[in-house]
Amino acid sequence: MTTQEDMIALVAELNRHAHAYYVLDNPSIPDAEYDRLFKQLQAWEAAHPEWAQADSPTKRVGGVPLPEFSQVQHSVPMLSLNNGFSDEDIENFDRRVKEGLDQFHAEYAVDLKFDGLAISLRYENGILTQAATRGDGATGEDVTANIRTIDVIPLRLFGAVVPQVLEVRGEVLMFKQDFQNLNARQRAAGQKEFANPRNAAAGSLRQLDSRITAQRSLRFFAYGIGDLQGAPMPPSQAALLDWYVTLGLPVCDKRAVVQDAAGLLEFFRNIGLQRAGLPYDIDGVVYKLNQFDLQQKLGFVSRAPRFAIAHKFPAEEALTTLEEIEVQVGRTGAITPVARLAPVFVGGVTVTNATLHNEDEVRRKDIRIGDTVIVRRAGDVIPEVVAHVPERRPADAREFVMPQACPVCGSPIERPEEEAIARCSGGWQRCKAQKKGALIHFASRRAMDIEGLGEQLVEQLVEKNIINTPADLYKLGVAKLAALERMAEKSAQNILSALAASKQNVNLARFIYALGIRHVGESTAKALARHFGKLEAVQAASAEELLQVEDIGPVVAASISAFFADPINCEMVEQLRAAGIALKEGEGERDNTPQVFAGKTVVLTGTLPTLTRDAAAGMIEKAGGKVSSSVSKKTSLVVAGSDAGSKLAKAQELGVAVIDEAQFLSLLQPVQTEQDPLENEA
Ligand code: IVH
Repeated sequence: MTTQEDMIALVAELNRHAHAYYVLDNPSIPDAEYDRLFKQLQAWEAAHPEWAQADSPTKRVGGVPLPEFSQVQHSVPMLSLNNGFSDEDIENFDRRVKEGLDQFHAEYAVDLKFDGLAISLRYENGILTQAATRGDGATGEDVTANIRTIDVIPLRLFGAVVPQVLEVRGEVLMFKQDFQNLNARQRAAGQKEFANPRNAAAGSLRQLDSRITAQRSLRFFAYGIGDLQGAPMPPSQAALLDWYVTLGLPVCDKRAVVQDAAGLLEFFRNIGLQRAGLPYDIDGVVYKLNQFDLQQKLGFVSRAPRFAIAHKFPAEEALTTLEEIEVQVGRTGAITPVARLAPVFVGGVTVTNATLHNEDEVRRKDIRIGDTVIVRRAGDVIPEVVAHVPERRPADAREFVMPQACPVCGSPIERPEEEAIARCSGGWQRCKAQKKGALIHFASRRAMDIEGLGEQLVEQLVEKNIINTPADLYKLGVAKLAALERMAEKSAQNILSALAASKQNVNLARFIYALGIRHVGESTAKALARHFGKLEAVQAASAEELLQVEDIGPVVAASISAFFADPINCEMVEQLRAAGIALKEGEGERDNTPQVFAGKTVVLTGTLPTLTRDAAAGMIEKAGGKVSSSVSKKTSLVVAGSDAGSKLAKAQELGVAVIDEAQFLSLLQPVQTEQDPLENEA
């Protein structure tokens, strides 16, 4: 029999684990154990609803639909921030702050400007009682039921002493990966996709049915405070956020305390470099004078504080007109519609071209020539046309028609019915666009790695008919190269050395990859090299034999067969070999990792103490092995971590060798033991 005390203790325990999992990213118990405790709590609550706790994690599962959102009066208004864009804007801000304070020095708490929705969370005696959107700053919408479904938001604050009232201000957002997953699900269900993570977060939070919100993986970062009663106010912004951490509130760790304009600008640049790699979108950084008493001294102008400013990145989306849609021909003949745009400044550069991906995308987004379109350029990503603005469509807007002939070589464009991509049928021999693409790919770092042989050089070599096939590269002489634009004797020499070096010790996998066979990426090339060992064997393989290679299906097999069935391709391979390319055959890798797992199938199970699963799998493959997800008689070895379950049992049952991470790592040491450790474990 349970008591109410048991239930309270279980709720506290589950909340602790959830905090470790969601906020600290450091799970304290396995998922299965969490689920078991959770079910236990549900059962107790069903038996004793009168004991149910307000902060029970079971309350996160969305309840019944709300009729509509009721209004919430903010006790302390939710203001906005002034924006700055240039270094000068920020220097002026810093100067005004110092003038206002009549001092020569200023200390700032700096953090990220999250691209989500501002939310105010009201905790009374530590319990989350109300959550409201910003609304117009004075009145917001009550979204408490939906906010309760967000796992990172504590339903009860941590710590023995909590304030009577605490209003936490922060941002609800959706991580990029969760956004991608959500859109994939929406697509699969034939439902509307969201334009960006911010919209997805807003749409998810404003659901009348919190069961939908519960399925949406929302996050939250706290950055400010509204009302506070029954506890002393921390002295500074930095101290406030430190306090929040102890209360179990999620606070982003990319924050700092810096001095003066120089410190602000350094933080801005530093975050700018990290931006693309962050798991969530930010649109800038926020600078706040650190000490609260000094903040008060400066006060507010209209609806924004004098003591804070948002330093924004250049916008990543902008409107412009789509003047024409042309097509571009890729290395494998793929035809990509490209938007020619009226020049527009977006993501920090002027953009005049953007990809439209393929014909179906143009139709799906209903993009027409003459439309006003939203162009997006994030980080180093290729600019793309996101959508058109329906209200601004001119009467004479034209639909895009896929051309019948390749704009470069005139060969017919074909599009097999089941494929999204139309292709030029000319092949690399007839189509210069494909030829250039094939040469650039051949020379690229992960293929033959010919340093200095880039796009501009290839462009000239092909246009001047100096080069016809990759094999011709090896016939180049100094005089021919040095005569080209932007080339001199020295740079020509360098290219020739790079070409000579690229012939030495090429491993088979790289060579196969360099051939640019459609659907054959690096990992397929490796699998082919491993399976067949010699180039001749790959060339001679029938489609049936190719299907025996791991991860090769009918489409890839057909593509490889078709490539080697074409005499033009075979001749090119012949010429390359005649040019003196020294293939290192019978090996999967060029680097010198000992091939301790060659021919072995390894299964990973459980949580390894230091390695992620991807890292361990990568190391196995590098050492010549294959990673499999299930244990069978063919399994050579199982690497087991903590909480290994049925796979470990199966391995023991079948007598398959089992090792731990330390043993695994020692196998990969450059110095090998005399015995093959894989053969003698059992
Ligand atoms: S502080 C007095 N800090 O930006 C203003 N705001 O324009 C208090 N935002 O509506 C806001 N990240 O939605 C602050 N680290 C951050 C922020 C942040 C995003 C948003 C917030 C607010 C808007 C202000």
